[in-house]
Amino acid sequence: MEQTTEYTRVFVGDTRKALDEILTRYPTKRAALLAALWMVQERHGWISDVAMAETAGVLELTPAYVKGVVTFYTMYHQHPVGKTFVQVCTTTPCNLCGAEGVVDALLEHTGCGELGATSRDGKFTVIEVECLGACGFATPVMMNDDFVEDVTAEKVPDLVKRYS
Ligand code: FES
Repeated sequence: MEQTTEYTRVFVGDTRKALDEILTRYPTKRAALLAALWMVQERHGWISDVAMAETAGVLELTPAYVKGVVTFYTMYHQHPVGKTFVQVCTTTPCNLCGAEGVVDALLEHTGCGELGATSRDGKFTVIEVECLGACGFATPVMMNDDFVEDVTAEKVPDLVKRYS
């Protein structure tokens, strides 16, 4: 876990200015929470308890409220993840088209070994997710913000190489 002494505040300088600009678009500070959390994750790669406390302070919320939001949305990471965060749809339609094989190949070729674990080199974390809205292009995989369609187990080695 991230230590308090090593934590670099997010909402200072230009980032604070950017947040203040965002706040002008919302009726309340609380309404900007998702955007603020996204800024934290972009900076640190995940959202620690210390970061939640900083965000709560800036938006005049309780840390418990912020934690409730962070833990509700799967897009927020509550622990460090690999440089490339890999999300694979394994909902039934994709599963019928070989998603499990894609997951197995990803776990092998990234070196993650198991779902949710980060590879030893820190490059990858692989998770399963529900429908990504591309059921006609099984199996869809998200490599960070990149959407990759028609992934098969055979295509995985090249895909992993592209992000290594
Ligand atoms: S079921 Fe996989 S994208 Fe919809």
